[in-house]
Amino acid sequence: MKVALEGKTIVITGASSGIGAATARACVAAGMHCVINARRKDKLHLLAKELGENCIVVEGDVTEDGFNQHLLDESGDVYAIFANAGHGLNQSMIDCDMKQCKELFELNVFSAIELASLGAKQMVTNQSGHILLCASCLSKFATPKHGVYSASKSALEAMAKSMRMELKKDKMFVSTVHPIGTRTEFFDVSAVRSGKEESTFSSQSPSWLMQPPEKVANAVVRCLGRPKPEVWTSLPMRLISTSFSAFPKVASTIIQRFS
Ligand SMILES: NC(=O)c1ccc[n+]([C@@H]2O[C@H](COP(=O)([O-])OP(=O)(O)OC[C@H]3O[C@@H](n4cnc5c(N)ncnc54)[C@H](OP(=O)(O)O)[C@@H]3O)[C@@H](O)[C@H]2O)c1
Repeated sequence: MKVALEGKTIVITGASSGIGAATARACVAAGMHCVINARRKDKLHLLAKELGENCIVVEGDVTEDGFNQHLLDESGDVYAIFANAGHGLNQSMIDCDMKQCKELFELNVFSAIELASLGAKQMVTNQSGHILLCASCLSKFATPKHGVYSASKSALEAMAKSMRMELKKDKMFVSTVHPIGTRTEFFDVSAVRSGKEESTFSSQSPSWLMQPPEKVANAVVRCLGRPKPEVWTSLPMRLISTSFSAFPKVASTIIQRFS
């Protein structure tokens, strides 16, 4: 099925940098109206200036009580939502800081579910709409020290699977986005949250494992135009993660060897 995107409105959270900012650029280039959200007002306004009249800013923290409803109230008639705001955590389970774990789930899972749920209520009345949740390739498997992050992305994926079936009768689409390593602020933000000064993941990873955020953004726009359940930008990683689910013992051995 093909969807005409011209003139339709999308709300993108976590749009002050990385995948969210790149997706806002790609959506405006595809003729959509964008409502961009994050906490850093200055970065959002710079992006809005670049994107022109098809972009409005609603800054604020998506984990704050009542904010997601405010975001939708300010956005008008919304066709799509990309719940993309998220951060990582790099801590072994034995040393995990529960405050950090809860904050991660508040952002990566609960705020995304709340926004999707509130948005879906509006979309049901329109009998059309598309909700995209930013998961990760790590929603399919876990690596040492990223258990809480992987768990948050697996939770989102499970939620999306359920919503997809519930909302089909109302002509709505639900998709999850599964980036591999992407060159954004993500690794540095996660390092700081994990009590480290900076991350070396991005600079030390082989280039085939790292992609620019524009690659994810373009895949998201393709999915908006031709809805499908999952957005992947790496076929090898998609196949590897599917095999990992089927063969968990082999998966642990391989993952531990490369961690
Ligand atoms: N980079 C990767 O390798 C990778 C791989 C797989 C999945 N992902 C996922 O991709 C998504 C985007 O991450 P990214 O790589 O683009 O990293 P990023 O550049 O750090 O972007 C994260 C965005 O989330 C926003 N944000 C954080 N807390 C927020 C809050 N409480 N309320 C509203 N906005 C908030 C940040 O803006 P402010 O600080 O201005 O609020 C920023 O715009 C995340 O869900 C991440 O888990 C990333």
